[in-house]
Amino acid sequence: MTAPIQFAGEDLSNTARRTISRQEPVALRTFTPSQTVLARSAGVFHWTPEGRRLYDYSSGVLVANLGHNPLRWMKRFANYMGWSAASASPGKNGDPSVSPSPSLPLSLSASDIETTPADAYFPAVTMTAYNAVTPIEAQAVERLVKNVQSWPGGKRLDTVMWAASGSEAIQKALWACLHRDEARDLIIATRYGFHGKKGLAGAVTGCETDHDRDPRVKFISFPMSEVDDMSKYDQPIDLAPYRQELEKLWKEYGRRLNCLITEPYLGGGGSYHPPASYMQLLQTFCREHDILFILDEVQANFGRTGRMFAFEKYGVEPDFVALGKGLGNGVPVSAVVGRGDVMASLKYGEASDTWSANPLGCAAVLATLDEFESTRVLENTRALTPVFFEGLNRLKETGLVAKVRGEGLVFGIECADCGGLSSKQVAIEIVKAAYLGRKGGDGIHLLGPLAGNVIRISPPNVISAAQARDSLGLLHEVVTQLAEKLSAVGAPS
Ligand SMILES: Cc1ncc(COP(=O)(O)O)c(C=O)c1O
Repeated sequence: MTAPIQFAGEDLSNTARRTISRQEPVALRTFTPSQTVLARSAGVFHWTPEGRRLYDYSSGVLVANLGHNPLRWMKRFANYMGWSAASASPGKNGDPSVSPSPSLPLSLSASDIETTPADAYFPAVTMTAYNAVTPIEAQAVERLVKNVQSWPGGKRLDTVMWAASGSEAIQKALWACLHRDEARDLIIATRYGFHGKKGLAGAVTGCETDHDRDPRVKFISFPMSEVDDMSKYDQPIDLAPYRQELEKLWKEYGRRLNCLITEPYLGGGGSYHPPASYMQLLQTFCREHDILFILDEVQANFGRTGRMFAFEKYGVEPDFVALGKGLGNGVPVSAVVGRGDVMASLKYGEASDTWSANPLGCAAVLATLDEFESTRVLENTRALTPVFFEGLNRLKETGLVAKVRGEGLVFGIECADCGGLSSKQVAIEIVKAAYLGRKGGDGIHLLGPLAGNVIRISPPNVISAAQARDSLGLLHEVVTQLAEKLSAVGAPS
């Protein structure tokens, strides 16, 4: 057993951390030095069991784009599920509550089980509909396709395969492509992408030197050094080497090349956001050779880049987009939306599983679409992009941050070596210092570093300008204090 992370004065959090470390393997989480315990959450904030408030700079992991537990979203979600019958009583201001009826017994006795009371169940949308169809699924599929197609670049995306996680959506997209023509057995993937850990999603993640590689996957380069800092964003990039790599692949494998999968930006790979011209180059190559173009928007979708979908921003028209994370704002649901003529090559059951198209996920998608279609969340995201660029760029003054990159409301800050610490150790110390925050005051919840030394900044898209300024000020304060400490002692205490 690995020793649990513990912080002084956090008895409740420490107890939870100890239990988890005793009964769950560390493999279940990616490493983070804070291992924050989240007791409750609202909007852009989490609270620890000790009552400390933390700005959420992760949005779960790019999931809670509309913030945590948004009341209007929750009501819509409950209404889609037909849960009003389970309301205890009208809530504040007459709003229907979604808490379960007090008449529902909390624990059943033997006699309850034998003679079920008439009010033990209420009629609502089923939570599981395997092998059946629900009207809510029909509504969700129609609304999702309509929304996706309403944006420039969405024309080809006419059919939905649901799933429960991002990696499953990727798996299904790749299955569909590979089934289209079994003689075309090779997949092109951009190097250092992250598409998930399971099955084919794992196979197209990373690069050719990682362990356990699938020989069907051929990796190509993705712009990184050219876009590793915001100061480079207005410099033109030379696409010739990328074009040559593609031509070389075609020469070597020709029509065996079936599809190409990429992310709009390298997320898990360390926040590298390419120019639109790179995406367009990939698309042109695909079109020239009838190669299917799959854009993994599991992380980028629903507003992250400042657009509903990144394909619009990057000016491409993919054959498939994989959606997830923010799609359900917290309810596990994902989908691949793409060409029905290609998906038709799969037969009954070849892409089915227990949770795909489950009504809970469909209700969450509908509630999330309602919010995006009726509010100014995308405008808010775009308005705050320069605020975050400025606030994050200011961190370079501390000497602990070397590079800043991003778009919309998803940024990466690359740490620098300092005071005898490597940039990776500095990143860990920043995550810890942000968590501890101001003495007796707010902190910031950050994910553990990506790609070693990059800290992801991705607050909910509904963060207000005042909250953005306040939290960026707090981050500057804690990073400055850490820099002073590191330069005084040469190492963390
Ligand atoms: C771009 C991208 N694709 C796919 C995935 C995998 O999603 P999941 O963890 O839901 O399987 C992720 C997860 O971080 C991701 O960022």
